[in-house]
Amino acid sequence: MKTQLLKVNEDSIALGAKLIREGELVGFPTETVYGLGANALDAEAVVKIFEAKGRPQDNPLIVHICGMEMLNGIVSEVPERAKKLAAAFWPGPLTMVMPRGPEVSDVTCAGLDTVGVRMPSHPVVQQVIKASGVAFAAPSANLSGKPSPTNAPDTLADMDGRLPLILDGGESNVGVESTVVAVTGEHPMLLRPGYITKEQMEAVLGEEVLVSPAILEKLKDGEVARSPGMKYKHYAPKAQVTILRGDFAKYKEFIKQHTEPGVWALCFDGEGAQLGVPFIEYGKNHDGVTQAHHLFTALRDLDKHGAQVVYARCPEQDGVSMAVYNRLIRAAAFRVVEL
Ligand code: TXA
Ligand code: MG
Repeated sequence: MKTQLLKVNEDSIALGAKLIREGELVGFPTETVYGLGANALDAEAVVKIFEAKGRPQDNPLIVHICGMEMLNGIVSEVPERAKKLAAAFWPGPLTMVMPRGPEVSDVTCAGLDTVGVRMPSHPVVQQVIKASGVAFAAPSANLSGKPSPTNAPDTLADMDGRLPLILDGGESNVGVESTVVAVTGEHPMLLRPGYITKEQMEAVLGEEVLVSPAILEKLKDGEVARSPGMKYKHYAPKAQVTILRGDFAKYKEFIKQHTEPGVWALCFDGEGAQLGVPFIEYGKNHDGVTQAHHLFTALRDLDKHGAQVVYARCPEQDGVSMAVYNRLIRAAAFRVVEL
């Protein structure tokens, strides 16, 4: 299959909507990362997503909508908490796991009785959903296991020949995938951290949001992840990544003692030139927002440069940094060294 990469305009949006209605896949920008969409109600179309990504069938997809009225049939009930969070954060980078409605195909939800729904704020995905008139099942547009793409060329690099159209709408602002929160159950639970933080949701809900243990630590053998996506190694570049936890002075000292060929540093802005090894800077120290924006491009760039061993500076674990830490420990297959 030939993959077209088209700049966003009226014609390319109309073509995207037509392809979705015909049961095809389309790649598009969202404010978080690039997505790969299919009609969420068409099981045959959704199966193509799993094939294109090489994604395990037990990992459910998020359903993307462009208005509250689209929730009809997709969820069986909109819990009170979901109404509050939607009023505060939709459209935006928040996915809510709700009781599943009758119209969503089994493949989309991987057979679960819940469904993750999100209303993205990026105008391009909103326009394609609106023009096609259907909700989209849409995962990140990477090959399964690779970092999510945050621009059209990286989407093409993974998806070339696997779908007919990618819409090029420039770089995604946020840089990491949406926050996923389960709003059913006794307490709300964070299943995947993102740009909308635990602290922000707690302020809106007036109650504690629990953090799924799979977010910050490796699952123990036999432990089940509430969010199936969390059990896979993810976001992994070819290089072996190790996170070094400690201040910059100790990090610099460690790097000095490990300057073999193939070693790269993944550090914060303004630090690289002091290290004596090739480096990529992935945002400001103590600033999860800039780190989230750059992380996945940095991981892909390390591969492009042929990095073999990567020593990464350690992000913090609260606010947006929790999302950065969550993605980076997976890229590092949970290798963290205390300095
Ligand atoms: O920002 C995003 O959410 C992007 C863009 C394209 O919108 N999409 C995305 O989708 O990241 P994906 O498929 O790469 O990640 C979906 C995550 C997985 O970790 C999956 O396990 C979880 O959401 N998920 C989906 N439905 C769920 C459900 N019913 N219960 C628990 N976890 C669910
Ligand atoms: Mg993904």
